[in-house]
Amino acid sequence: NLDLSGQINGQQFEHLFLNASGVHCQSTTELDDLLNHPAVGGIVTKSATLEKRDGNPAPRYYELADGSINSMGLPNFGYDYYIDYVKQSHAKPTILSVAGLSAADDVQLLHQIQASDYAGLTELNLSCPNVIGKPQMAYDYAGTEALLKEIFAFFKKPLGVKLPPYFDLVHFDQIAAVLNQFPLTHVNTINSVGNGLWVDVASESVVIKPKGGFGGLGGRMVLLTALANVRALRQRLNDSIKIIGTGGVKTGADVFAHILCGAELVSVGTQLQVEGLSVYDRLTTELSRIMADKGYHSLSDFRGKLKTI
Ligand code: DOR
Repeated sequence: NLDLSGQINGQQFEHLFLNASGVHCQSTTELDDLLNHPAVGGIVTKSATLEKRDGNPAPRYYELADGSINSMGLPNFGYDYYIDYVKQSHAKPTILSVAGLSAADDVQLLHQIQASDYAGLTELNLSCPNVIGKPQMAYDYAGTEALLKEIFAFFKKPLGVKLPPYFDLVHFDQIAAVLNQFPLTHVNTINSVGNGLWVDVASESVVIKPKGGFGGLGGRMVLLTALANVRALRQRLNDSIKIIGTGGVKTGADVFAHILCGAELVSVGTQLQVEGLSVYDRLTTELSRIMADKGYHSLSDFRGKLKTI
């Protein structure tokens, strides 16, 4: 009886929960699992590159007490695999995530989507921290602007972007000034907090192999950064650009906080990896209890209404 829905570009997500790209979304079996789960509103694919990739050498994901560190390196089955999947008819909305290994790749991927008969949402990942030698595009404001100009000259389908976390208020102003020039459907914030390092004291060693142990941080330890990014971008972006809140969600209260900061939908990454699909049932129960206690019936009753003191 509670309304937990959200909309992006007129597409109705009956339930606010998504997977965070990368978790439980590499194979069609995993994507089907998500789509079949009643508390999942839609899916995001693993970021597709033009060609299939094995990714970085293992171990490349490590669970910590309060989150995770990963340097997967974009292992995926390639663009053709994911476009074939999202082109099928599904009962829920799909978001096709794509990640070129260069700006030229990004343009080529989007040309292929434009030429296909896929009509759903696409999300360009401008923030992968784990491909060796490839910087996170969205930290380059001029480069991002030039790329989006080139893309929107030909791309006429619904498009959002996945952003890395920002840590300086001036940087929020700068990325928002770029993004507001374009008819984006959404931004998904945040990708993992890039290039953290975990040290295992017993073994006096790093815990993942790629890049000497450096990797993207996820899970509860990044919640405050995620909330700040959702909030700061909601305050700066055009209303037509919806925000998918990603990062640090472990409890229903965390979900509630993302919505208060302005998220339209919320995705779950590390905690989905840790707990499996039942995480969505627990989060739904916890969120529903908080809403019921406060007398809220729909997410729009409190979305974006964070109070300041
Ligand atoms: O943390 C991440 N890991 N973010 C990405 O965008 C890609 C992924 C990977 O495959 O390394």
